[in-house]
Amino acid sequence: MTTLLINIKELLQVRDTSIKKVAGNDMKTVPTIKNAYLLLNNDIIAGYGEMKNAPSTADKIIDCTGKMILPSWCDSHTHIVYAGNREQEFVDRINGLTYEEIANNGGGILNSAKKLQATSEEELYQQSAKRLEEIIALGTGAVEIKSGYGLTVEAELKILRVIQRLKENYNLPIKATFLGAHAFPAEYKNNKEGYINLIINEMLPKVASENLADFVDAFCETGYFSVEDTDKILTAAQQYGLIPKVHVNQFTTIGGVQVSVKHNALSVDHLEVMNKEDIEALKNSDTMPVALPSCSYFLSIPYTPARDIINAGLPLALATDFNPGSTPSGNMNFVVATACIKMKMTPEEAINSATINGAYAMNLSDEVGSITLGKKANFILTKEIPSYGFIPYSFGSNLIDSVFINGQQV
Ligand code: NIG
Ligand code: FE
Repeated sequence: MTTLLINIKELLQVRDTSIKKVAGNDMKTVPTIKNAYLLLNNDIIAGYGEMKNAPSTADKIIDCTGKMILPSWCDSHTHIVYAGNREQEFVDRINGLTYEEIANNGGGILNSAKKLQATSEEELYQQSAKRLEEIIALGTGAVEIKSGYGLTVEAELKILRVIQRLKENYNLPIKATFLGAHAFPAEYKNNKEGYINLIINEMLPKVASENLADFVDAFCETGYFSVEDTDKILTAAQQYGLIPKVHVNQFTTIGGVQVSVKHNALSVDHLEVMNKEDIEALKNSDTMPVALPSCSYFLSIPYTPARDIINAGLPLALATDFNPGSTPSGNMNFVVATACIKMKMTPEEAINSATINGAYAMNLSDEVGSITLGKKANFILTKEIPSYGFIPYSFGSNLIDSVFINGQQV
């Protein structure tokens, strides 16, 4: 079955040769074709070019006059498998408590873990599937999902099995990350080593033997997992082939970037506080820095210094961090707009960060993230817009006409 999309006002992020990522100055450019066609063969991109060279027939033809097409958003950092919400903590913060104070009072991650432990796997699946459908409708066509709101062997496995079931039932690429090291459960408050041993000796072997994760993560942060804890966990995960993607530098810079780079992490995520040494550590590494501007927005914490990172010649990816505590939103359109508005990224830089670089941060650069022959036909058809800069400019408006996953209009 062939589908031909014709009269596309502008086809964005066209890469004739498949690239893994874009960095530094190269991020300033998004290659495009104006007045273009796009040809799909079932679920695969089979051709594109200027309208004057378009094929004359196809099984299905869609007229895109006035509309643009870009690759689906690649959201490389989410926690969408969680139970319930934390809107009471949101109100508590409005009334003056800090995120840290709430966590110290048993709220935060431990609050979500309590809820999740008491929720059946079926119910957890239903809640999570709803969030997944919501983000697909918002243009996300590939996503990473973390565990981390279980914090017991059973509950962590429950989350990962839910992710597995999402992979089976939805046809976009989904990657799973084991984040047992998200917070110390209350009963291990004075026995942190005990919890780390539980992760290493019980959780990791089960996750690996049931083949439930692609990646491993840890919340490397003051008051959570130290650099030494993180080092231990990443070392243990290595023997199971789990590649690190690590929460670092959200509130403090303690060496999380360095330990992640040492372990050849695929990505380091958050990076709201960065010093010169952190940026230096990322140079000559294959590790993708990932910014999560919706988290900065929601918690009123600093934004990742995107300009310093890109001006240093590094790449940058953008993701949502969709989770119940710091980012109850999975809207990549908002992320792209906020990156432009608050982090001074150009629309081109933001689009590169949210497509090809997001794909890289999930090891999916060969499948998604650009309009390239042979890649998956996962893309966004916009409403009629004057230019692609209009996407971040008109933040908050829904400019999506329709979303295609594997060549199918969702
Ligand atoms: O990525 N920083 C660590 N974890 C989550 C939020 C945790 C929560 O508050 O539930 C994050 O922001
Ligand atoms: Fe996160």
